[in-house]
Amino acid sequence: MTQSQVRLYYKNATADAIGSEHGIKCEQLNALGQRLVPLITRLNRDKQERPAYRHLPYDARTSDKVKELVAEVKGQCENLVVLGIGGSALGNIALQTALNPYMYNLDPSQRAGPRLFVFDNIDPAQLVSFLAWADGRLDKTIFNVISKGGDTAETISQFMIVRRMLLEKSGFDRYTERVVVTTDAKKGLLCRIADTDMLRPLEVPNGVGGRFSVLSAVGLFSAAMCGINIDQLLAGAADMDARVSCEDVSKNPAAINAAINYYFYNQGKKISVMMPYSYHLKDLADWYRQLWAESLGKAKDLKGNEVHIGPTPIKALGATDQHSQIQLYREGPNDKLFTFLQVDDFGADLTIGPAPDCAPELNYLAGKKLSALLNNEKKATEYALLESKRPCLTVLFDEVNAYTVGQFIYLYEVTTSFAGALFGINPYDQPAVALGKEATFALMGKEGNYTPDLTYEQFAQQIRAKTTLDESYLV
Ligand code: PA5
Repeated sequence: MTQSQVRLYYKNATADAIGSEHGIKCEQLNALGQRLVPLITRLNRDKQERPAYRHLPYDARTSDKVKELVAEVKGQCENLVVLGIGGSALGNIALQTALNPYMYNLDPSQRAGPRLFVFDNIDPAQLVSFLAWADGRLDKTIFNVISKGGDTAETISQFMIVRRMLLEKSGFDRYTERVVVTTDAKKGLLCRIADTDMLRPLEVPNGVGGRFSVLSAVGLFSAAMCGINIDQLLAGAADMDARVSCEDVSKNPAAINAAINYYFYNQGKKISVMMPYSYHLKDLADWYRQLWAESLGKAKDLKGNEVHIGPTPIKALGATDQHSQIQLYREGPNDKLFTFLQVDDFGADLTIGPAPDCAPELNYLAGKKLSALLNNEKKATEYALLESKRPCLTVLFDEVNAYTVGQFIYLYEVTTSFAGALFGINPYDQPAVALGKEATFALMGKEGNYTPDLTYEQFAQQIRAKTTLDESYLV
């Protein structure tokens, strides 16, 4: 049986579709693609040179470990709570929304695992409400704390709240049974705590940054707990790995995607809108937004020159945002590249009911499929944008399943790497995020030195000087 696929359709970004003032010409696309060939060839020749995330689809040791742990804890677990932020949460949310039913948490007949809650924020009102619900259910709840660095203030604070609650309500032994820690195997605060408290460990592999980690234990554990087929997810990624390794760039979807995105950025279309026409794909757009923004938004290029570059990713949802964003997208500045996500087979459908006798004007909808309405709305929106000379890409999903979602994730990870190469920046660091993390430590009273010349206390004073409210500007 042929596996369902994810494919990239790019005609509507070309000069053939929208004219040469706004579209990319074949020769321009080809020239940009050729710039990626030496990189692709090098990575094919020496697979060890590949970024660490590119080994994840083949990491059977991790998927076996995840499955073992799932077999061990799933029976006693009705609620799984992920504590993490950024790359340590967005992939988990995206997999769950993509691959489990809309009513998963509410309807036991629609789920093959525990309810899933992902806390990727520290709003006290939200956590208080949840913990009030979870109290009394703690013996059936597993907490998966995820942090690569192990000292992220948001995640570690949530963990310290939950740890206190478990210790007070359930005692030490129950606490150790109820927590799974996903972090670096050797270093970091969370690793130390997991060792000392004898918590169940899972590993964030060396060299894999948060936003590239969804196919590691970071994303696989919650997915497998919730009944998602992680073998299919990894197989889909491996399928895409073969396609994005193709040295004929005209057949390489990541090379074409990266080249088109890079081209339009340099043509003044610095905003990149991802718009799924599918509820299930909506959080993949959120995941993409972080991947794209943190990886490509950089002050310096690889030679150390100040460049301040990076496309701005926006997420929208079809058809919902046709009624909130499209006015701007069509008539506002022509500064965006659109990427639609389109699904062929939704795996479920509804027929629209008959028109009421008093409203025969509605006969054009009666008896039609809801999927046809949604996909025709996508086409209609694309047509309207093309009429306004706005470039559009479409990622086509035959269907949404673990295999195609694995393909999509891997396609966008490698697209990001290739775009990073074209922009000449390092897509794997995030110095600006690190500064915010350190500033939080300082403001929360961390002791010791931030840099050799500056204590955290002095650093906090510098921050307060710029952020304390100046009443004379308050109206
Ligand atoms: O992609 C990244 O590296 C970041 O978004 C991190 O995932 C995020 O800052 C959380 O970091 P950590 O997993 O170390 O707690």
